[in-house]
Amino acid sequence: MSYTIGVPRETYPGERLVSLTPEVVGRLSKSGASVRVERGAGDTAFHSDADYEAEGASIVDRNGAFGCDIVTKVRPPSTEEIGLLHAGSVLVGFLSPLDEPEICKALADQGVTALSMELVPRISRAQKMDALSALSGIAGYKAVLVAANLLPKFFPLLTTAAGTVRPANVLVLGAGVAGLQAIATARRLGARVSAYDIREVVREEIQSLGATFVELEIAMDEMQDSGGYAKALMAEKAQQQTKLLVPFIGKSDVVVTTALIPGRPAPLLITREAVEAMKPGSVVIDMAAPNGGNCELTRPGETVVHGGVSIVGSTNLPAGMPVHASQLYARTVLAILQDFTSEAGFSPNFEDEVFAGACVSHDGNVVHERVKALLQS
Ligand code: NAI
Repeated sequence: MSYTIGVPRETYPGERLVSLTPEVVGRLSKSGASVRVERGAGDTAFHSDADYEAEGASIVDRNGAFGCDIVTKVRPPSTEEIGLLHAGSVLVGFLSPLDEPEICKALADQGVTALSMELVPRISRAQKMDALSALSGIAGYKAVLVAANLLPKFFPLLTTAAGTVRPANVLVLGAGVAGLQAIATARRLGARVSAYDIREVVREEIQSLGATFVELEIAMDEMQDSGGYAKALMAEKAQQQTKLLVPFIGKSDVVVTTALIPGRPAPLLITREAVEAMKPGSVVIDMAAPNGGNCELTRPGETVVHGGVSIVGSTNLPAGMPVHASQLYARTVLAILQDFTSEAGFSPNFEDEVFAGACVSHDGNVVHERVKALLQS
């Protein structure tokens, strides 16, 4: 018996990604699924209804897309969308489980088995399902292009008949997936790049991209947890860090900040004082804006100008690259579907580390311990 997969149109303001691309729909159709795409779902990512039909999908209305056995999404569902999901169906997408755990509760109450892309563990086997990393890489690239566009200066060194232009100084704070892509992109544009991270293990990666590792004189313990993520700094060390960063920030034309500890507000790295140490015309791209920001002056979703310094708080940089962002996102969703579906449809497997890590609701219950704890607190 064939099962159905629904692809609703994303309705979150400014979202331009689509959860499955025609290429991935083609692969799912060949493997026996019957894919139903909401009319216009791919428009903002430049995929027409006809492109989906050519890959075997049928074009349906909103109820048709949400009424499938498996529904794939980019953004967490709204209350109205949760109401359209059938009991016993499966939802795969970003669900914001640690920031908005009540969404998981509503999905459990609706009888939906929900897999949160944010909670896919960072282990080797799950790399192909790691949507956060896929989109962070895109965002890191785009962040540098936005900075280059705003900066009233060149990035590269230029030797001209009219004199020499010195390269821009770019500082990247937080060298995880987004930060490393930002470093690589700024280097390709010819900037002089330095980077800082509390995880000592990234020093070599920073250096291998041709950037300088910024050394702060703070005694650090092991700052990486078993999942490869950073641990939070104690308050006293965090204050020391912010202070020691001021001169490095002051020397930079562009600062890209990406520091994040999952499930916590973004750490403060750039104070007002640090922004005031920067030259007018300089640019801060605060990629942690969705989590509150690494800069004291950031306003999520806005660009603030303070003393001539632009502080960009974009919260959805991947939406500026909807074609490749959708392509990579859809591949991560496909990888999940391939692992947990057979000809009969979706089969939950709580013995599996990836499934158990990502599943937030099943059989009417919230099943993820961290989400449960958040709901109780
Ligand atoms: P990641 O976990 O790979 O990297 C975060 C890095 O920050 C880690 O290397 C960690 O060690 C470092 N870090 C944590 N605390 C720090 C501190 N106090 N000082 C210095 N470094 C510190 O995360 P990823 O995937 O690179 O994402 C980075 C950020 O970009 C996140 O905040 C994420 O929400 C954001 N993002 C923003 C987008 C946007 O449109 N604005 C789009 C995609 C991601």
